[in-house]
Amino acid sequence: MPQHINAQQLPGDEAVPAAEPHAGHLPPDRAIETQADLSAEINALADAYARALKDGGAVETQPRLDYPPYRSSILRHPTKSLHHADPETIELYSPAFGHQDVHALESDLTIQHNGEPQGERIIVAGKVLDGDGRPVAGQLVEIWQANAAGRYIHKRDQHPAPLDPNFTGIGRCITGPDGSYRFTTIKPGAYPWKNHLNAWRPAHIHFSMFGTEFTQRIITQMYFPGDQLFPLDPIYQTIVDQDARDRLVAKYDHSLTEPEWALGYTWDIVLTGPKRTWTENEALGAEGDEE
Ligand SMILES: [Fe+2]
Repeated sequence: MPQHINAQQLPGDEAVPAAEPHAGHLPPDRAIETQADLSAEINALADAYARALKDGGAVETQPRLDYPPYRSSILRHPTKSLHHADPETIELYSPAFGHQDVHALESDLTIQHNGEPQGERIIVAGKVLDGDGRPVAGQLVEIWQANAAGRYIHKRDQHPAPLDPNFTGIGRCITGPDGSYRFTTIKPGAYPWKNHLNAWRPAHIHFSMFGTEFTQRIITQMYFPGDQLFPLDPIYQTIVDQDARDRLVAKYDHSLTEPEWALGYTWDIVLTGPKRTWTENEALGAEGDEE
């Protein structure tokens, strides 16, 4: 069964922070693990991976499904073998959308309400490419994100950062003939979550993309360059390979930046392609996947 996802897939969304007061408003709970505890675990796993690489181990481009520092990762993937289905049959009843359903204005998350949202206006653009680097045209790209204060407009997110009445944090677009997508939005803030004491997610935008089949959906996260939270974040660290992690980080692009308007970030997304298995085999040496 071919894999329909590429190295950029992450486990499901970490969802939203639990509906509890900000940790800083509470007396310290000595039973809660600290960032130092978590960082020690992260560093130990990184060291083990580095040693394995040195000994000729395979490069790991996919996130680890069980990554103990990300405490709930065990709950976020199947524990039994997948049931293989015929992709062509699935496509007979999978969802479909018409191009006219996605309006061009839906790619601008800053114009969905009566006023301007708070925060730093940004442009995020790039291309959706298949495993051979060819553009994937006419495909649905959806994003969702926290606002500038790091708050999701979701009832489960109750941490004490303000909601923005002018920002919902959801947008979508269809890729152009060259595979390009483009969003105008607000740079999201970091936000706390309950993995451990003082756990914060680096600023990120969630992306969902379809390939040439509905069975090729991937969901991933785009990060911003230079985030100081990268080494501390168990979700970012579920990908143990630095090169693979780097592919999730957008690049600041001054040519995309618009004067007096918005900073530009470029991020390309690579879906699977018909020769992806070959690529994997190359990366893994002689022991690649069977397909
Ligand atoms: Fe998130």
